[in-house]
Amino acid sequence: MLTDPPYNLSSNFEADFPSRSSISHDFGEWDDNQITPNDWVPEIARILNDNGTLITFYNNRRTHELLAALTQAGLEFRQKAYWHKTNPVPQLYGVKWQEAVEEIIIATVNEGKGHGFQDQRGQHHNVIHSSIQNRGPNTDHPTQKPEEVISTLIKWWTKPEDLVVDPFAGSGTVCVVAQQLGRQYLGIEQKHEYVETARTRLNQRSLQQDW
Ligand SMILES: C[S@@+](CC[C@H](N)C(=O)[O-])C[C@H]1O[C@@H](n2cnc3c(N)ncnc32)[C@H](O)[C@@H]1O
Repeated sequence: MLTDPPYNLSSNFEADFPSRSSISHDFGEWDDNQITPNDWVPEIARILNDNGTLITFYNNRRTHELLAALTQAGLEFRQKAYWHKTNPVPQLYGVKWQEAVEEIIIATVNEGKGHGFQDQRGQHHNVIHSSIQNRGPNTDHPTQKPEEVISTLIKWWTKPEDLVVDPFAGSGTVCVVAQQLGRQYLGIEQKHEYVETARTRLNQRSLQQDW
């Protein structure tokens, strides 16, 4: 399970700049405190198989809510990783540090063996460095994740042909990367327009692979 749920961060803050694109914190009504970890984590715990792994992004300021929900649902918190944004959004007045990391929480069903660790073991830092822009095409989704970040996670935590499920699929980045890396995938998304975006991306990839 690899997902990027609503962070409940949206506000009506907007700022325009003469020399760069504007900043907006209005991501859409789906990010408006409608769903919290207690609503979805128990369902994930219910459907993960015994050697299943949950990898999820979340709002840095509310990680405690996610960790509490994981524990309550009987999942085992294993590790945090960090996405270091090499070109983070600028600070408006330059008096605070830029928010240059996003947390990624990794949990499993139990502490046993058989989780999807990479076969080739070794020493790796728990930091993924990537721009906030995609190398591939950008969609209209306001919080599309870069394929590079998702690819690092899928390569490390799953094996070819494993099933990767994203219950908050948005523009379908997790499914697109899973397809590219030869994993099975299943995406769930409530907004019809984003489902169509994800379908288009997946169809484009299949055509490229056919050639
Ligand atoms: C943070 S975005 C995911 C973005 C995605 N990682 C990408 O790269 O495009 C979260 C998505 O969850 C969807 N969502 C919110 N509540 C949902 C629900 N109850 N069921 C399914 N999807 C939901 C939203 O519409 C939104 O597109």
